Amino acid sequence: MKFFVDTADTDAIRELQELGMVDGVTTNPSLIMKSGRDIKEVTKEICSIVSGPVSAETVALDAEGMIAEGRVLAKIADNITIKVPLTWDGLKACKVLSEEGRMVNVTLCFSANQALLAAKAGATFISPFLGRLDDLNLDGMALIRDIRTIYDNYGFETQILAASIRTVNHMKEAALIGSDVATAPPAVIHQMANHVLTDKGLDAFVADWKSTGQSIL
Ligand code: E4P
Repeated sequence: MKFFVDTADTDAIRELQELGMVDGVTTNPSLIMKSGRDIKEVTKEICSIVSGPVSAETVALDAEGMIAEGRVLAKIADNITIKVPLTWDGLKACKVLSEEGRMVNVTLCFSANQALLAAKAGATFISPFLGRLDDLNLDGMALIRDIRTIYDNYGFETQILAASIRTVNHMKEAALIGSDVATAPPAVIHQMANHVLTDKGLDAFVADWKSTGQSIL
Protein backbone atom coordinates (compact mmCIF):
# COMPACT_ATOMS: atom_id res chain seq x y z
CA MET A 1 0.00 0.00 0.00
CA LYS A 2 1.33 3.43 -0.93
CA PHE A 3 1.53 6.07 1.82
CA PHE A 4 0.42 9.60 1.07
CA VAL A 5 0.79 12.25 3.76
CA ASP A 6 -2.31 14.31 4.42
CA THR A 7 -0.81 17.69 5.29
CA ALA A 8 0.58 20.96 3.95
CA ASP A 9 3.23 21.05 6.68
CA THR A 10 6.46 20.91 4.68
CA ASP A 11 8.68 20.14 7.70
CA ALA A 12 6.58 17.08 8.53
CA ILE A 13 6.63 15.96 4.88
CA ARG A 14 10.41 16.38 4.70
CA GLU A 15 10.96 14.32 7.84
CA LEU A 16 8.85 11.40 6.59
CA GLN A 17 10.30 11.68 3.09
CA GLU A 18 13.83 11.19 4.46
CA LEU A 19 12.66 7.86 5.92
CA GLY A 20 11.14 6.75 2.61
CA MET A 21 7.59 6.89 4.00
CA VAL A 22 6.11 9.28 1.45
CA ASP A 23 4.76 8.09 -1.89
CA GLY A 24 2.66 11.23 -2.34
CA VAL A 25 0.87 14.07 -0.55
CA THR A 26 -2.75 15.19 -0.27
CA THR A 27 -3.85 18.69 0.64
CA ASN A 28 -7.25 20.34 0.84
CA PRO A 29 -8.50 23.90 1.48
CA SER A 30 -8.62 23.29 5.25
CA LEU A 31 -5.02 22.05 5.33
CA ILE A 32 -3.89 25.06 3.24
CA MET A 33 -5.70 27.34 5.71
CA LYS A 34 -3.97 25.56 8.61
CA SER A 35 -0.55 26.06 6.99
CA GLY A 36 -1.19 29.82 6.78
CA ARG A 37 0.62 29.85 3.41
CA ASP A 38 -0.26 30.72 -0.18
CA ILE A 39 -1.62 27.64 -2.00
CA LYS A 40 0.68 27.93 -5.02
CA GLU A 41 3.78 28.67 -2.98
CA VAL A 42 3.30 25.84 -0.47
CA THR A 43 2.22 23.34 -3.15
CA LYS A 44 5.31 24.17 -5.20
CA GLU A 45 7.52 23.52 -2.16
CA ILE A 46 5.76 20.20 -1.49
CA CYS A 47 6.30 19.17 -5.13
CA SER A 48 10.00 19.93 -4.78
CA ILE A 49 10.24 17.55 -1.79
CA VAL A 50 8.10 14.69 -3.11
CA SER A 51 8.30 13.18 -6.59
CA GLY A 52 5.03 11.22 -6.28
CA PRO A 53 1.52 12.63 -6.82
CA VAL A 54 0.70 15.81 -4.88
CA SER A 55 -3.03 16.56 -4.70
CA ALA A 56 -4.07 20.21 -4.91
CA GLU A 57 -7.78 20.90 -4.55
CA THR A 58 -9.98 23.13 -6.69
CA VAL A 59 -12.50 25.35 -4.89
CA ALA A 60 -14.97 26.31 -7.65
CA LEU A 61 -18.35 24.64 -7.49
CA ASP A 62 -19.06 24.52 -11.22
CA ALA A 63 -17.29 22.27 -13.74
CA GLU A 64 -15.91 25.13 -15.82
CA GLY A 65 -14.43 26.79 -12.77
CA MET A 66 -12.89 23.53 -11.56
CA ILE A 67 -11.38 22.88 -14.98
CA ALA A 68 -9.90 26.39 -15.12
CA GLU A 69 -8.50 26.13 -11.58
CA GLY A 70 -7.23 22.61 -12.26
CA ARG A 71 -5.28 23.79 -15.30
CA VAL A 72 -3.68 26.57 -13.23
CA LEU A 73 -2.79 24.20 -10.39
CA ALA A 74 -1.36 21.66 -12.86
CA LYS A 75 1.18 24.27 -14.00
CA ILE A 76 2.79 24.27 -10.53
CA ALA A 77 4.63 21.00 -11.21
CA ASP A 78 4.47 17.80 -13.26
CA ASN A 79 3.41 15.70 -10.27
CA ILE A 80 0.28 17.71 -9.43
CA THR A 81 -2.92 15.72 -9.07
CA ILE A 82 -6.01 17.88 -9.42
CA LYS A 83 -8.53 17.24 -6.68
CA VAL A 84 -12.20 17.79 -7.46
CA PRO A 85 -15.24 17.05 -5.27
CA LEU A 86 -17.58 14.16 -5.94
CA THR A 87 -20.45 16.22 -7.33
CA TRP A 88 -21.95 16.02 -10.80
CA ASP A 89 -19.87 19.06 -11.78
CA GLY A 90 -16.80 17.45 -10.22
CA LEU A 91 -17.35 14.37 -12.39
CA LYS A 92 -17.62 16.55 -15.50
CA ALA A 93 -14.36 18.29 -14.57
CA CYS A 94 -12.74 14.90 -13.86
CA LYS A 95 -13.68 13.65 -17.32
CA VAL A 96 -12.27 16.72 -19.09
CA LEU A 97 -9.07 16.97 -17.02
CA SER A 98 -8.32 13.24 -17.19
CA GLU A 99 -8.82 13.29 -20.98
CA GLU A 100 -6.20 16.06 -21.08
CA GLY A 101 -3.83 13.52 -19.52
CA ARG A 102 -3.85 15.03 -16.03
CA MET A 103 -4.02 13.01 -12.79
CA VAL A 104 -7.35 13.60 -11.03
CA ASN A 105 -8.26 12.74 -7.44
CA VAL A 106 -12.02 12.72 -6.82
CA THR A 107 -12.55 13.61 -3.19
CA LEU A 108 -15.35 13.63 -0.60
CA CYS A 109 -16.56 10.16 -1.61
CA PHE A 110 -18.99 8.59 0.84
CA SER A 111 -20.66 5.82 -1.20
CA ALA A 112 -19.73 2.95 -3.50
CA ASN A 113 -21.99 4.36 -6.23
CA GLN A 114 -20.09 7.65 -6.12
CA ALA A 115 -16.84 5.69 -6.51
CA LEU A 116 -18.28 3.82 -9.49
CA LEU A 117 -19.14 7.11 -11.20
CA ALA A 118 -15.67 8.53 -10.52
CA ALA A 119 -14.02 5.48 -12.10
CA LYS A 120 -16.21 5.81 -15.19
CA ALA A 121 -15.28 9.51 -15.40
CA GLY A 122 -11.59 8.48 -15.58
CA ALA A 123 -10.42 9.37 -12.05
CA THR A 124 -6.83 8.44 -11.23
CA PHE A 125 -7.72 8.26 -7.52
CA ILE A 126 -10.97 7.99 -5.58
CA SER A 127 -10.88 9.28 -2.00
CA PRO A 128 -13.41 7.59 0.30
CA PHE A 129 -13.45 9.42 3.66
CA LEU A 130 -13.32 6.74 6.38
CA GLY A 131 -13.04 8.88 9.47
CA ARG A 132 -15.96 11.14 8.65
CA LEU A 133 -18.20 8.06 8.21
CA ASP A 134 -16.93 6.55 11.46
CA ASP A 135 -17.68 9.88 13.18
CA LEU A 136 -21.36 9.27 12.32
CA ASN A 137 -21.19 5.69 13.62
CA LEU A 138 -21.18 4.37 10.05
CA ASP A 139 -18.69 1.77 8.80
CA GLY A 140 -16.04 3.60 6.79
CA MET A 141 -14.06 0.43 6.22
CA ALA A 142 -17.07 -1.31 4.66
CA LEU A 143 -17.03 1.42 2.02
CA ILE A 144 -13.40 0.69 1.12
CA ARG A 145 -14.25 -3.03 0.93
CA ASP A 146 -17.23 -2.38 -1.39
CA ILE A 147 -15.23 -0.14 -3.70
CA ARG A 148 -12.40 -2.71 -3.84
CA THR A 149 -14.92 -5.40 -4.88
CA ILE A 150 -16.58 -3.22 -7.51
CA TYR A 151 -13.32 -1.99 -9.04
CA ASP A 152 -11.95 -5.56 -9.13
CA ASN A 153 -15.19 -6.93 -10.64
CA TYR A 154 -14.82 -4.65 -13.64
CA GLY A 155 -11.07 -4.05 -13.81
CA PHE A 156 -11.26 -0.29 -13.16
CA GLU A 157 -7.79 1.21 -12.90
CA THR A 158 -8.84 4.05 -10.59
CA GLN A 159 -6.77 3.73 -7.41
CA ILE A 160 -8.51 3.61 -4.04
CA LEU A 161 -7.02 6.31 -1.82
CA ALA A 162 -8.32 5.69 1.71
CA ALA A 163 -8.72 9.17 3.22
CA SER A 164 -9.82 10.86 6.43
CA ILE A 165 -7.65 8.37 8.30
CA ARG A 166 -7.66 8.96 12.04
CA THR A 167 -6.10 5.87 13.61
CA VAL A 168 -3.41 3.26 13.11
CA ASN A 169 -6.20 0.67 12.86
CA HIS A 170 -7.54 2.51 9.82
CA MET A 171 -4.11 2.04 8.21
CA LYS A 172 -3.99 -1.68 9.02
CA GLU A 173 -7.55 -2.34 7.86
CA ALA A 174 -7.09 -0.37 4.64
CA ALA A 175 -3.94 -2.39 3.88
CA LEU A 176 -5.72 -5.69 4.63
CA ILE A 177 -8.60 -4.81 2.32
CA GLY A 178 -6.20 -3.89 -0.47
CA SER A 179 -6.61 -0.14 -0.66
CA ASP A 180 -4.03 1.05 -3.22
CA VAL A 181 -3.10 4.09 -1.15
CA ALA A 182 -3.84 5.51 2.30
CA THR A 183 -3.39 9.17 3.09
CA ALA A 184 -2.80 9.89 6.75
CA PRO A 185 -1.76 12.80 8.95
CA PRO A 186 1.96 12.62 9.89
CA ALA A 187 1.07 11.78 13.52
CA VAL A 188 -0.76 8.60 12.50
CA ILE A 189 2.21 7.41 10.43
CA HIS A 190 4.49 8.04 13.43
CA GLN A 191 2.09 6.17 15.75
CA MET A 192 2.33 3.08 13.54
CA ALA A 193 5.81 2.47 14.99
CA ASN A 194 4.51 2.34 18.57
CA HIS A 195 3.69 -0.74 20.64
CA VAL A 196 3.48 -0.94 24.40
CA LEU A 197 5.32 -4.29 24.40
CA THR A 198 8.17 -2.76 22.37
CA ASP A 199 8.56 -0.06 25.05
CA LYS A 200 8.32 -2.59 27.88
CA GLY A 201 10.78 -4.95 26.22
CA LEU A 202 13.24 -2.15 25.56
CA ASP A 203 13.06 -0.95 29.19
CA ALA A 204 13.94 -4.46 30.37
CA PHE A 205 16.82 -4.81 27.90
CA VAL A 206 18.24 -1.43 28.93
CA ALA A 207 18.03 -2.30 32.64
CA ASP A 208 19.60 -5.76 32.16
CA TRP A 209 22.35 -4.35 29.96
CA LYS A 210 23.21 -1.70 32.53
CA SER A 211 23.61 -4.40 35.18
CA THR A 212 26.26 -6.19 33.08
CA GLY A 213 28.53 -3.12 33.24
CA GLN A 214 29.57 -3.81 29.62
CA SER A 215 29.78 -1.42 26.68
CA ILE A 216 29.73 -2.19 22.95
CA LEU A 217 31.70 0.83 21.71
C1 E4P B 1 -8.00 13.66 1.89
O1 E4P B 1 -7.55 13.90 0.81
C2 E4P B 1 -8.46 14.68 2.83
O2 E4P B 1 -7.58 15.77 2.74
C3 E4P B 1 -8.43 14.23 4.26
O3 E4P B 1 -8.08 12.88 4.38
C4 E4P B 1 -9.62 14.64 5.07
O4 E4P B 1 -9.45 14.18 6.37
P1 E4P B 1 -10.33 14.73 7.60
O5 E4P B 1 -11.68 14.09 7.53
O6 E4P B 1 -9.57 14.29 8.81
O7 E4P B 1 -10.40 16.21 7.45
